Amino acid sequence: MVSETMEISRRSFIKTAVAIGAWLVWVGPARSSRVHWHERRDLYPQGVASGDPDPHSVILWTRRPFSQGTRHLLTVEVAEDEAFRRVIADAQAPVSSAADWTARVLIGGLKPARTYWYRFTDADGNGSRVGRTITAPLPDDPRTVNFAFVSCQDVNEGKLNAYRRMIYEDERAPVAEQLGFVLHLGDFIYEVVEYPDEVKTRYDRTIYEVARIPDGHKVGNFHIPLTVDGYRGIYKGYLADPDLQDARARWPFVCIWDNHEFSWQGWQSIVKAGRFEQPGQSVKIAANQAWFEYLPARVAPPSGLLERFDPPSVQDVPIKEFDSNGLGMEPNNLTAINSLKGYRALRYGRHLDVIITDQHSYRSADPFSDPSLGNLGGDEFTDMFPESLMRALDGGRGFNGGNPPPEIRFNDAHVPNPQRNAPPQTILGAEQKAWFKDKLKSSTAAWKIWANSLGALDSRADPQNLPAGLTKESWPPNASYASLGGGDYGTAYAERAEIYQLVRDAKVTGFAIVSGDRHSFWAGYAASELPPGKFEPVGLSFVGASLTSPGTMEAYEHSLPKEAPLRPLFLADKAAGPPDWTHNMLLKHGVRSCLEYAKSFDLERARSLSNPDLAPHLEFVDLGGHGYAKVRLSAKEMRTEFVCIPRPIARSDRPDGGPIRYRVLHTAALWESGERPQLKTSVLEGDVGLAI
Ligand SMILES: [Fe+2]
Repeated sequence: MVSETMEISRRSFIKTAVAIGAWLVWVGPARSSRVHWHERRDLYPQGVASGDPDPHSVILWTRRPFSQGTRHLLTVEVAEDEAFRRVIADAQAPVSSAADWTARVLIGGLKPARTYWYRFTDADGNGSRVGRTITAPLPDDPRTVNFAFVSCQDVNEGKLNAYRRMIYEDERAPVAEQLGFVLHLGDFIYEVVEYPDEVKTRYDRTIYEVARIPDGHKVGNFHIPLTVDGYRGIYKGYLADPDLQDARARWPFVCIWDNHEFSWQGWQSIVKAGRFEQPGQSVKIAANQAWFEYLPARVAPPSGLLERFDPPSVQDVPIKEFDSNGLGMEPNNLTAINSLKGYRALRYGRHLDVIITDQHSYRSADPFSDPSLGNLGGDEFTDMFPESLMRALDGGRGFNGGNPPPEIRFNDAHVPNPQRNAPPQTILGAEQKAWFKDKLKSSTAAWKIWANSLGALDSRADPQNLPAGLTKESWPPNASYASLGGGDYGTAYAERAEIYQLVRDAKVTGFAIVSGDRHSFWAGYAASELPPGKFEPVGLSFVGASLTSPGTMEAYEHSLPKEAPLRPLFLADKAAGPPDWTHNMLLKHGVRSCLEYAKSFDLERARSLSNPDLAPHLEFVDLGGHGYAKVRLSAKEMRTEFVCIPRPIARSDRPDGGPIRYRVLHTAALWESGERPQLKTSVLEGDVGLAI
């Protein structure tokens, strides 16, 4: 007899399955495997994976290319044990050349919060490796929840020692502390591919072979795909990495793209990489298709089938008309960006709602990149731009109650305000933002985690406190603070304030942002204003470092001139050894601390000169970190642990992935509505340098 709850879960499973066009599999009683499986990893060169678990179902994935025919059937088995003595489901899983020989199968009828093992076998008994996956707890399950968040895994320029470390520690952790899933916040691939025979190194990095791009374009040393075959080739190259394969075989992944799954500086369906910019409706669809094929997720492709994508045909034509939210109304653009909706939410037990958004497909044009702004001068102030001007550019025609400044001025230089008639910047776009706000307001979980690929913490400095004479030009007298950001939520002032205001008005507690993209570790508070404005945090905000990709400190070590007048604000050169990263101190304590530190290397004295108004939103920032972040959630507390490893230039031959630089823990008790969230940061091991 089927119980009532089982009936409900079966009905909701079928509803989900129909919505994403799934190949349905329902489980039965356990029995021994009937398949003559013998492992042939060489025939499944990208391994196995699982994605988007809910309490009763999960999507399983593999790739099995065939040289004959266009479609074959594999058998997928799911078992309660690793030896497949208690198999609870077997079913057919189609692979076809139309999907680049990738398979996705939704398995339903699973028990909540359970570990399962799965494998694929072809008609001749050639089997994939065995994968492990874990279902979500039921929405009322009070157990503690553990997950990791990661981003930016450039295997063209580094190795994934961080995954090796994550696996090593997870295998040895008590069951209650093992990770339930890995939240991948984008840059799963980098579409900008270097060839080792053309370029040997970049910064400290060795260039490793990843893929060759057919029908692409070349910008500098980077080959860029423009067709689905190019993107597919990159996914195949990335998934050849053994550490990434092992991670996908150990945990279900929950993924959202950042920029590089499509285009470095691309937005909506426009391809942009430095000087190269062109309408890319067909390119956006190609990027979506390859993402769908290689990363199993609960998303609905144009085919209405989980088996294959079926790209709509579009023309690459210029987008000339934008609506009041900056959305390009050109029909091919709309077809392209709507060909795959990546934003979605995941409930995971009583304590966690993960709300996942797409930061690139619907965003308005970048308000900070108009070439005229380059004529304003201030070149001595490395990467700094007055925060007040950033706010004006972000606000567009809506700034200052609809009275934007006609000019953007830096000391005596001025240019017409390029954003004067532009819509206010939006990263989410109107439709997604409405969905996001609704999810945020209606969540009943203790913790509402915004999985946002883009960092949301202000990156700023106080050059107004520099001693006279250090630079030839002085910082503009009325400019106050400098922003060192641009391109993410750290400078999306208006939209960020709108979201935080909703959190406040709707009395949402347990609001926290997890993000990536910045290739650095940050921990702090979600606040729309910093001094001299009113600092009123409504939640927590974290940025996880890159798994591999080079970060700001590595770039500055190579590119910041020794004679740059403000070099001590970024790098403190010592008599011997690599420079210290005063950049971290600049963002958290300000210019006076940096100048003192670069002179005396006396940390205590440097910190005593901290500017308390600069960064009340920051507890921790390390622009040179790499690694991953782990989160543990209970009814009362959020614990976020940064595990930082050395610059991952070469693959570690150690089973633990190599040494760690530091491990730092940020804890916050769940606050009541109206209370201020409070982080406590403690260094568990290693040396965090100038990050605190
Ligand atoms: Fe990245």
